[in-house]
Amino acid sequence: MNLPTVLLPDGTRIPALGQGTWHMGETASRAAAEEAVLREGIERGLSLIDTAEMYADGGAERVVGAAIKGQRERVFLVSKVMPQNASSAGVVRHCEASLKRLGTDYLDLYLLHWPGPYPLAQTVAAFEQLRAAGKIRHWGVSNFDTADMEELFATPQGTNCATNQVLYHPDERGIEFDLLPWSRSRNMPVMAYSPLGQAGRLLRSPALKAVAQRHAASPAQIAIAWSLRDGNTISIPKSANPEHLRENAQAAAIRLSEADLAEIDRAHKPPAHKTSLAML
Ligand SMILES: NC(=O)c1ccc[n+]([C@@H]2O[C@H](COP(=O)([O-])OP(=O)(O)OC[C@H]3O[C@@H](n4cnc5c(N)ncnc54)[C@H](OP(=O)(O)O)[C@@H]3O)[C@@H](O)[C@H]2O)c1
Repeated sequence: MNLPTVLLPDGTRIPALGQGTWHMGETASRAAAEEAVLREGIERGLSLIDTAEMYADGGAERVVGAAIKGQRERVFLVSKVMPQNASSAGVVRHCEASLKRLGTDYLDLYLLHWPGPYPLAQTVAAFEQLRAAGKIRHWGVSNFDTADMEELFATPQGTNCATNQVLYHPDERGIEFDLLPWSRSRNMPVMAYSPLGQAGRLLRSPALKAVAQRHAASPAQIAIAWSLRDGNTISIPKSANPEHLRENAQAAAIRLSEADLAEIDRAHKPPAHKTSLAML
């Protein structure tokens, strides 16, 4: 199957559908199964893996490290630094620690997990230093609202940001009002986190169920197809269940019709005004 891709602002082509890892690495007895799912995901083309130093206190990065062992070059690897660690020296030190847990000498993308106490100029300078040293290929941010992005772009080298990872699914569409158009106008893809709404209320949506029935698919697959619909969004559903993983990989082939999208819009309304960025 030909999986969708998106372009980063510098022209690098990356997979549009990846794998999240939040809550992986929390329980030692589950680590081998989580690793196996991540490996199968890579085989199925979900080769973008999103992790963070925060997840299970480094435990998720260790699981990812085990999963990518021997196949590092097949993977587009994303990790994140917590804002309280994002001083100029802190970013470099915490990146080294992530690399060690991941068993690699470079990240494809390193994100600031959310806006924090250090001036952006410090964090950006450290990201650029890591990039020059070959420790990271790209850097970006997460949970940045439009005003935060404006501030970033006014920071020296801030326009080198590759992406912004934000909460985005049919019940959390606030970014469509301003952040998404802002990003599009700068050729910057957005990375949608929790595209399944963490498998809560969203997957019980009658609209998603009706669309799913027409496609002989599941509501989760419709949520994933929806997140990928504009060709400029990266989606990172998390699964530690092989059946779910297979389902999620197949969702990339689903093309939603105008009627499908209209039905989803009626039940999960697009924003009519600015709301502040929702985050988990
Ligand atoms: N930057 C940030 O601040 C931030 C915040 C949140 C998340 N993230 C990233 O985004 C990733 C995804 O978000 P998320 O983990 O919050 O939520 P999500 O991907 O929306 O949902 C994950 C939940 O959905 C279940 N699931 C997966 N596939 C399914 C399917 N086909 N059918 C039914 N249930 C399914 C999973 O259970 P099973 O494992 O049992 O399949 C899990 O309980 C995270 O793992 C993390 O990497 C980033």
